[in-house]
Amino acid sequence: MELFKTISELRQALNADKHNGLTIGFVPTMGALHQGHLSLVNRAGSENDRVVVSIFVNPTQFNDPNDLRNYPRRLDSDLALLADSPCDYVFAPAVEEIYPEPDNRKFDFGALELVMEGQFRPGHFNGVAQVVSKLFDVVKPDKAYFGLKDFQQYSIIKNMCSMLNLPIGIVACDIVREADGLAMSSRNMLLTPEHRTIAPLIYKSLQIALEEAGHFTPEEVKKHVKDRINLSGLLRVEYFEIVDELTLEAVSSWDQKGSKVGCIAVFAGKVRLIDNIIFAK
Ligand code: PAJ
Repeated sequence: MELFKTISELRQALNADKHNGLTIGFVPTMGALHQGHLSLVNRAGSENDRVVVSIFVNPTQFNDPNDLRNYPRRLDSDLALLADSPCDYVFAPAVEEIYPEPDNRKFDFGALELVMEGQFRPGHFNGVAQVVSKLFDVVKPDKAYFGLKDFQQYSIIKNMCSMLNLPIGIVACDIVREADGLAMSSRNMLLTPEHRTIAPLIYKSLQIALEEAGHFTPEEVKKHVKDRINLSGLLRVEYFEIVDELTLEAVSSWDQKGSKVGCIAVFAGKVRLIDNIIFAK
């Protein structure tokens, strides 16, 4: 496994691989890696000749300066984890390497960015699109791997590739959870012991929502989930929406065509956690 800090070094290694006809799988991350990230790396390893993992805490996607400041950074332990994975190249650039100039590009994802994360984190997806489009331009992968934990991000990235005509296969990977159901996240390590103990209630409530679907209206299910979590006194729901899996438009009836997904954001103290559950057709 090799570590690159500059675009030119990484490009050089990848050019040689592409010249030899090797396929490239890419896993963009912000580091503080856990088994969720590693599941993407393993999947990339099983489907490509070379695997690139980027580790870059992208400032332009943080709408809250405190969140950016507190975001965990632990390159050494990340490298140790990746050394035991199919990762061939780690790309861990400095901010100036990715943004030698301010990135003034404005993406328009229409309705996809007006709800949920887009609504509560203004500018977030524009920052995600800025950095992922730059990373895609550097790596030019055959396939790129994204976790369904960030369901809306996955929708935005697919839309961006289509908008920019990028010939990259976007692969969706299932959510990896702790034994107690909490979705793995780099932010979990910031939870107090008290919040960590109560946090599995988020996924438990989503599972109950799944059971309730069809017996109650989407509006009622939404209310039950929010009430159940807020009642804990320790967690505060920012939003819980049940949306169409493709358009992300709110669903008013279970009879509407297509799969639905219930997406939630919850504050556990100062730490913001997201999760979701798919209501199969
Ligand atoms: P980060 O939060 O580090 O996540 C990197 C990738 O890992 C994302 O595709 C995310 O959905 C996936 N992931 C995180 N936790 C997961 C889990 N428990 N199960 C499955 N997949 C999981 O998402 C970002 O970074 C950034 O926005 C990025 C795309 C790198 C752009 O900066």
